[in-house]
Parts: sequence; C-alpha cells; structure tokens
Amino acid sequence: MERFAIIGGVPLQGTVHVNGAKNATLPIMAATVLAAGRCTICDAPYLRDVTVMTRILESLGAEVRREGRNLSIDTGQIDNWEIPENLMRETRSSIFLMGALLARKGKVRVAYPGGCNIGPRPIDLHLKGLRALNAQITERHGYVYAETKGLRGAEVHLDFPSVGATENIMMAAVRARGTTIIRNAAKEPEIVDLQNFLNKMGARIRGAGTDTIKIDGVESLGPISYTVIPDRIETGTFMVAAAMTGGEILIENGIFEHVEPIAAKLREAGAEVEGGETGIRVRGTGRLVGVDIKTLPYPGYPTDMQPQTMAMLSIAKGTSVIIENIFANRFKHVDELLRMGAQIKTEGRAAIIRGVEGLTGSAVEASDLRAGVALILAGLVAEGKTTIDNIYHVDRGYEAIEKKLQKLGAQIWRLEEPA
Ligand code: UD1
Repeated sequence: MERFAIIGGVPLQGTVHVNGAKNATLPIMAATVLAAGRCTICDAPYLRDVTVMTRILESLGAEVRREGRNLSIDTGQIDNWEIPENLMRETRSSIFLMGALLARKGKVRVAYPGGCNIGPRPIDLHLKGLRALNAQITERHGYVYAETKGLRGAEVHLDFPSVGATENIMMAAVRARGTTIIRNAAKEPEIVDLQNFLNKMGARIRGAGTDTIKIDGVESLGPISYTVIPDRIETGTFMVAAAMTGGEILIENGIFEHVEPIAAKLREAGAEVEGGETGIRVRGTGRLVGVDIKTLPYPGYPTDMQPQTMAMLSIAKGTSVIIENIFANRFKHVDELLRMGAQIKTEGRAAIIRGVEGLTGSAVEASDLRAGVALILAGLVAEGKTTIDNIYHVDRGYEAIEKKLQKLGAQIWRLEEPA
C-alpha cells in the first residue's frame, strides 16, 4: 500500500499538461464493442479504472494493447456477454457495457453495481431507458440480466439528467431500429465526446450537449481512431491548486469552455483566471474570499470538484456554504479536513465552512477519488507535514499526480505504507 507525504507552503508555479478525460475514455472503451474490428483511442490516460475496463473488455473476448498513450482495442472476437462480478465491483463504469452488449450480442449479464463511498448509486434510469428500447430486464440474486429480440427506437424521458444513463441509452440506440429521442439528457462535455466518437463510427446522433438527443439507428458501425477530450476535472483541480497556493499555473491544453463554472467561482473568490488559445492561466492573488457553491448537472458546478473546492474555501476569508445536490453522501473529506484545522459543519446536503488562517499538516486518509485529491490540495497549503493513506483512490482518476505537482514546485512524495 502506498501513501503520499507532503510538506506544505510552496506556491505552485509553471505549466502543466492534463491527460485525456477518464469519464470520456471509459464510455468510449465500452462503445468500441459496437463495431467488430480494431479501434484506437488516442490519449487514453494511465489510470486504474482504465486498466479495469481493459480487463473487462478482455474477459468479453476483446484484444486490448497499450501503444504508448493510445489504446488499441480489437472487438472482432467478442464472444461473451457476462461481465465478471469481481471486475464489476472494481468500477461502476462496467455498467456502460449494458447498452453496447445488448446492441452487439442481444443480451448481457452484469452484477448489480450497488452503492459506493459517495452514496447510493442506483441504475433505475439506465434500466428504464433500455426497457423503452425493447430490452427485457430481470433483476435477481444481485444480477441484472437483459435480453432483446431486437432493439427499437423510442422516446425516453429521464427523471434526472444522469450522465451514465444518457450514455448507456445512446449506445443501445445507435443500433436500434428507428429513432430514439432522449429528453432531459445529461449535457456534460463527455456526452458530446461520445456522440462524436459514435458518429465517426457511422452513427447518426445529434443534440448531445443539449437536453434533447436524437439518434437514428443504423445497420452497422465501423472501427475508427479517436482522440478523447482533455480531462476537465483534472484541469479544474490544477486551477484550484494555483488559486489556493497563491501560485500561477498554465494548463496548456485545458478547454476553457468546459471549466467556465469553475473559472467563474475562482474569480468570485478573488483569483485571476484567463482562458485563451495557449490554455488556461490561473493566478492566486493573496488570500481568497469565501463563496457559496451548489453542485448541479453541467453546466452547473461539477460535483467532482466539490471536495477540492471545499479544501480551498477552508482557508478563504469569511464563511462559505456548499450545497451538494448530486450525491447524497459526498462529505467524507470533511472529517479529514477538520483534523487539519478546518472549521466545517455539515447539515444534510449543506456544508458551512468558516475560513481559517491556515491548516496544519496531519495524518489523513482518502475515502474516495476526489476526497483524496482534496486532501492533497489541503496538504499543499498546510504548515508542516501531511500524510495521506489509501491513495489508490487517487490513482483511479489522476495519472502521476505527484510528478505533475513536483514539476510545479510542490514537495510531495509517494511512499510505501509501513505494514
Ligand atoms: C458520472 C461520472 C462521475 C460524476 C457524475 C456526476 C463517469 C464515469 N462518472 O457518474 O464522475 O460524479 O457523473 O457528474 O462519467 N441516478 C439515479 N438513477 C440512475 C442513475 C443515476 O438515481 O439510474 C442518480 C445518482 O444516484 C446520482 C445522480 O443521479 O445521485 C447523478 O448520477 P449520474 O449522472 O448517473 O452519475 P454517473 O454517470 O454514475
């Protein structure tokens, strides 16, 4: 087991390159199943979730090769439609394979993904959409089994704009007979990326990025090569790192439009943010001031930036309120920030943060991916030494984060955890 050790107090300076987006790569890996042949996903990040998805595709009969930063996936020989339970437990993203396998094999069996550290994560909207497209679904003994005699286009109205459900339904609908309309669809940039990938394969989808997506089913799709978008949450994390350490970071390949909600809040808190041709530049200008935040579906403030933003606000001047609207139980980082001297109270979905002058280095534990990176940010500004355990969570979503931070001047090391 590994841990991070950090000595805080260095304003981060320099240029950083963010990797391809995890949340674009995972559904696109699943979508390769839709065409029999070899697809290449360019700039696929080296992350634990990507490795698990690779193993899932291999268990289905695909051949997956790492070629530097690219993933080459040959789905010509897919012969299985059951996702092994142990792999299913390692990443919820395996659920995306439901739509793709139904379209390719006419059936699929997955273990029910269950809850996770940030709260219950039902899949009712995924199943509702697939049922509407003429899949028969049975849920028994912790498994979901879906089968179809032929997918048919339909109108699906999502009760909530779920990212995963929108993607799953899109993947099933591209090979369905007739037209599918998804209303109240999620609008995240990763949905647009999936549309672009599928359309390049030969699908006929329009409207991704708005709340209505129309999909005309096609007979067949062909293998392609595709470059995924840069990770907007990794981008946002470095933006917050610059603002809260009082440094200046240029994120050379960040897409400004994707992080506008984050830029707006950082400016409100007193940081300077510029988005242009050369990337996104963020400069911390002295002590930030508290701001209020509500997490919402895109283009609202991303829930995946909530823990990092809370770490930042814990040392801002004045009081801030964060309302977490997406996940029921996403405040696990609060107890750890309290150990470091933050003053935060939670009440249901609200957290009230009274900014303190500074944090103190402590021994803390990552409870999930974004909570873990929030503690790294807290450690970067804390006085003295912080150690963070359970950093495998961080490795699920950030590639070599300590190396990128070291390049920006941070004193952070990856250590073996003592037995
Ligand atoms: C995706 C992202 C995740 C991000 C989240 C919200 C990927 C791989 N992961 O997760 O990083 O935090 O979007 O931006 O892209 N819900 C239901 N029923 C469903 C599906 C969802 O009630 O069938 C609820 C969930 O419990 C949650 C909310 O909808 O409260 C949002 O979930 P969703 O948008 O589906 O998130 P994911 O696709 O799982």
